[in-house]
Amino acid sequence: MARRRQLYEGKAKILFEGPEPGTLVQYFKDDATANNAQKRGVITGKGVLNNRISEYLMLRLAEIGVPTHFVRRLNMREQLIREVEIIPIEVVVRNVAAGSLSKRLGIEEGTRLPRTIIEYYYKNDQLGDPMVSEEHITAFGWANTQDMDDIISLSLRINDFLTGLFLGVGITLVDFKVEFGRLWDNEDMRIVLADEISPDNCRLWDAKTNEKMDKDRFRRDLGRVEEAYQEVAKRLGILPEAGMRDLKGPETMQ
Ligand code: TMP
Repeated sequence: MARRRQLYEGKAKILFEGPEPGTLVQYFKDDATANNAQKRGVITGKGVLNNRISEYLMLRLAEIGVPTHFVRRLNMREQLIREVEIIPIEVVVRNVAAGSLSKRLGIEEGTRLPRTIIEYYYKNDQLGDPMVSEEHITAFGWANTQDMDDIISLSLRINDFLTGLFLGVGITLVDFKVEFGRLWDNEDMRIVLADEISPDNCRLWDAKTNEKMDKDRFRRDLGRVEEAYQEVAKRLGILPEAGMRDLKGPETMQ
């Protein structure tokens, strides 16, 4: 196979040129960072599991009509995606107080919020992804009001669906972060769900015990990080064919 051109390397993923124009290959690494990359580490098998979990969730979301960038999974660590123009906003959807919301507003972690809250953060590592309002987003042209209407309604639909899906396997969806992109089809533009949905960017708590089953185990040095990611995949019924033994998986084919 011809060596593929690497287009971008992020903290947890690498993007390669895809086999056809308008496609990319998204490779999932085991690398983990927290606190704007001040804390770094490796979660063995995370890339394999996140590739699977994100594939599963994006396919289920597509079934209910949420457009996504996902095309198909290629192998243990790679998936084929549509190339989109990423909107530089991290959209955080919260159902239960945790993390930065609890810290900023002094609301105890685990408090159910009176209603779902959506927050926006400007994607800029140098600035530490500052929180912004819809006013900032439209004033600076990162997205227009029509884009924001689509982003809000998609985010709420994603939240409703995933809340039910996770509850069905005994998990509370506390909060999550999603990203959206513009997909162009000649003159037509659609906003689609991009990036990934995995325990790296969701807070997932066991519904009975409230035990954390997500990246907070790494962020807060709680231990049993790999096991938490495996448990999420297991409950969703999607552990890799090889089971727990081969989570390192084959290296990328370049
Ligand atoms: P926060 O409470 O730290 O603001 O995080 C809210 C949710 O967003 C949580 O599920 C983790 C996720 N998140 C990311 O995926 N990437 C980020 O850079 C941050 C800050 C949060």
